Amino acid sequence: MLVNLWPFKAVQHPGWPTVLGPLRVPAGVIRLRPVRMRDGVAWSRIRLADRAHLEPWEPSIDVDWESRHSSAAWPPLCSSLRTEARYGRMLPFVIELDGRFCGQLTVGNIAHGALRSAWIGYWVSSAAAGGGVATGAVALGLDHCFGPVGLHRVEATVRPENGASRAVLAKVGFRQEGLLQRYLDVDGAWRDHLLVAMTVEELAGSVTSALVHSGRAAWV
Ligand code: ACO
Repeated sequence: MLVNLWPFKAVQHPGWPTVLGPLRVPAGVIRLRPVRMRDGVAWSRIRLADRAHLEPWEPSIDVDWESRHSSAAWPPLCSSLRTEARYGRMLPFVIELDGRFCGQLTVGNIAHGALRSAWIGYWVSSAAAGGGVATGAVALGLDHCFGPVGLHRVEATVRPENGASRAVLAKVGFRQEGLLQRYLDVDGAWRDHLLVAMTVEELAGSVTSALVHSGRAAWV
């Protein structure tokens, strides 16, 4: 879809903005929707409380955890995510569980044209963890990427030590492609990451339908 955002040049952003789901998983009903400015309070509260749960897997930056996750940090972050989404480079979703903010799923570095590729990443609050939330969210996100967004390939990188995230990626059908040595500065050091990917040819219909057929999720 080519959209003319006068006075800016025409940009391509198929599949955005949109809401994905609802989908029932063991923890409750999930839904993915675009980030919004009023998410700041919930985002900050969870991210500050869940530092030990999140920090081992997150890219290092020069700002301390407290300042980086104050509610004042959300508006500029949200605004830059929304700008990237408007230009078709990113899909920044909030994951809701039973109508409440419980994490984020982001599709980034979206390339159109002959590449039609992107990465996917996510986090879920410790309070909601272990209930199939991330698996359901990634399934919905992948179907959206391979459907309305028109991507051919989606990849993800994960630390080998991140058992929970590796389990999520395996459950939705990602295939391992290799080990990226000293790939990313995470939690204060250069960490190896596994590269996993999926292309549209590997889809057997829909990732979410496969999850439903396996009994891990149900349509609402
Ligand atoms: N080793 C192996 N498997 C584990 C472990 C572990 N240490 N801990 C949990 N699991 C399994 C669970 O049993 C479950 O599998 P099952 O359904 O077969 O029982 C699976 O991991 C987790 O699946 P979900 O419940 O769908 O995932 P959840 O909603 O708990 O979210 C997530 C997982 C996103 C990794 C969450 O723990 C989190 O946010 N962690 C911190 C941030 C993070 O690691 N983000 C991912 C970075 S990598 C990336 O974005 C590509």
